[in-house]
Amino acid sequence: MVNFPHHNLLGIADLSAKEIEAILQRTAEHIEAGSHLKKSRNTEPLNNLSVINLFMENSTRTRVSFELAGKRLGAEVTSISVAHSSIRKGETLIDTAQTLRAMAVDLLVVRHPYSGAVQLLAEKLDCHVINAGDGFHEHPTQALSDAATIRARRGKLDGLKVAICGDVRHSRVARSNILLLQKMGAKVRIVAPPTLMPDEANLYGVQSFTDMREGLTDCDIVMMLRLQTERMQGIFVPSIREYYHFYGLDQEKLSYAKNDALVMHPGPMNRGVEIDSNLADDLSRNLVHDQVEIGVAVRMSCLEMLCAPT
Ligand code: NCD
Repeated sequence: MVNFPHHNLLGIADLSAKEIEAILQRTAEHIEAGSHLKKSRNTEPLNNLSVINLFMENSTRTRVSFELAGKRLGAEVTSISVAHSSIRKGETLIDTAQTLRAMAVDLLVVRHPYSGAVQLLAEKLDCHVINAGDGFHEHPTQALSDAATIRARRGKLDGLKVAICGDVRHSRVARSNILLLQKMGAKVRIVAPPTLMPDEANLYGVQSFTDMREGLTDCDIVMMLRLQTERMQGIFVPSIREYYHFYGLDQEKLSYAKNDALVMHPGPMNRGVEIDSNLADDLSRNLVHDQVEIGVAVRMSCLEMLCAPT
């Protein structure tokens, strides 16, 4: 295994292109061997390690993906969601974390509604910490899953034109993808209504568009985002109907991209809001299920990189 000099995985911002490449290589090995689809029988690299998934926001894909990834590598995995934890009884984040620490946890996977909360936990704890999405800051393993999915289909990232469309302002998936794709040589554009364009868009070094036709023209990959209503304070779109009319991906808007352009979505998809229902079901163009499947392989690779003895 490649030397991976990190104790935690908090964001793509902390990773070099070489380290991202190492995770993608390992992921490709898991996909090739099918080890992400079944519990490993021969070698169990995380045997005897205990992993806790602490999810303080709703999740289906990411939480189950980390659970399966840990179990398939032989770890003992426990998941806690906010609805069933003492946070509901007024316990602070740090107190919850210290409690878990007292139980000799080796790795904590954390999702939290506040940007920076996972970093704070990592500073307070000595176990490994993985960010499973913090506020609108970063969601590194989603971006790694997306990159691995593109590579599995297109064989490369370098030189591909990728449009990230929709609620970029409130999306941690967008931020992690912008960082990762640019580090790996892709050409990234963001397409959003002015109200959902991040204030700091000009700092990302990407092209930004407010018109889907212009933004999608000649793209290889069209990545759609959900409207993150839970992070909105105020009204950002006049109505869902108008949003869908101008920014919802349907066959017509997709036709502005390259003929063989692929559609991606981190899930959960909102049909008739950011994506047309037929396109949501068109698995010849839409990689949403591949992203989920490959996500398990990516999370296995991340767990190994952080915890497996070298
Ligand atoms: C994303 C998230 O939670 O940031 N979902 C996911 O992890 N699969 C995107 C979203 O919720 O819209």
